[in-house]
Amino acid sequence: MTINNLDQFCQQFKALLDQKPDWPELLAKGRAMLSELVINHDWFKDTLSRLVLDQVFLKNQWQSIDPNDIQLYYCPDKAFSVRAYIWEPDIYYPIHDHGAWGIVGALINQVRERKFARVDDMSDVNHAVVKQIADATLSPGDTTYVLPLHEGIHQMQALNNKVAVSIHVYGAPIRKGFIHYYDPHFNTAIRVYRPAINKKMLAIKTLGSISGDWAKEVLLTVLNSAEPDYVLNECQYSLDKMDKMGDK
Ligand SMILES: [Fe+2]
Repeated sequence: MTINNLDQFCQQFKALLDQKPDWPELLAKGRAMLSELVINHDWFKDTLSRLVLDQVFLKNQWQSIDPNDIQLYYCPDKAFSVRAYIWEPDIYYPIHDHGAWGIVGALINQVRERKFARVDDMSDVNHAVVKQIADATLSPGDTTYVLPLHEGIHQMQALNNKVAVSIHVYGAPIRKGFIHYYDPHFNTAIRVYRPAINKKMLAIKTLGSISGDWAKEVLLTVLNSAEPDYVLNECQYSLDKMDKMGDK
């Protein structure tokens, strides 16, 4: 069966997932399907015109962590989603990880993908040393992939001074709430949250840098609540930091 548009891709990809393939089979067959979808971008013209002309379509876009992430499809059983990423030339896009596996294909113009490996012992949540292990140029029809967490660290970039678009198929996340940005100069791992909760998380991080019982009380109140794990963890990191400051 050929794949000429997003509906056909989603139907066939869902049928593939329903067969519960192991990862090598999912990757091989998924990449072949995605390659067929991204070899031609005729099907994507409608998305571009709706983003520009259709206020409701624009408003329904979820504010995800990446501002250049256009959501195209969510599988009702949450097994996968399809997004388009728009890459502007001359913008520095951070080295990052993912909460899920992903299969990625270049759709419009060329994108460069650099892959990185963590080479530190991962004992410090704020520290990471990453080393480049691959550097590839993807043209429309070419695909690549990422694994969850530290096994899929990469960086994307538009080439030739042209805006580029890639299509990303992500599985269900095994880690929710945030991704890491890695800074290879300062050797830092930064937890980045979606806009809707980012200000709260920044405030939690700030409390960890203030000595004072009131700051500790706010953090302990959150720790004793039913917030998601990533919020509780961020509170714990702030309390740990506070304790370290107190020791000095
Ligand atoms: Fe990515």
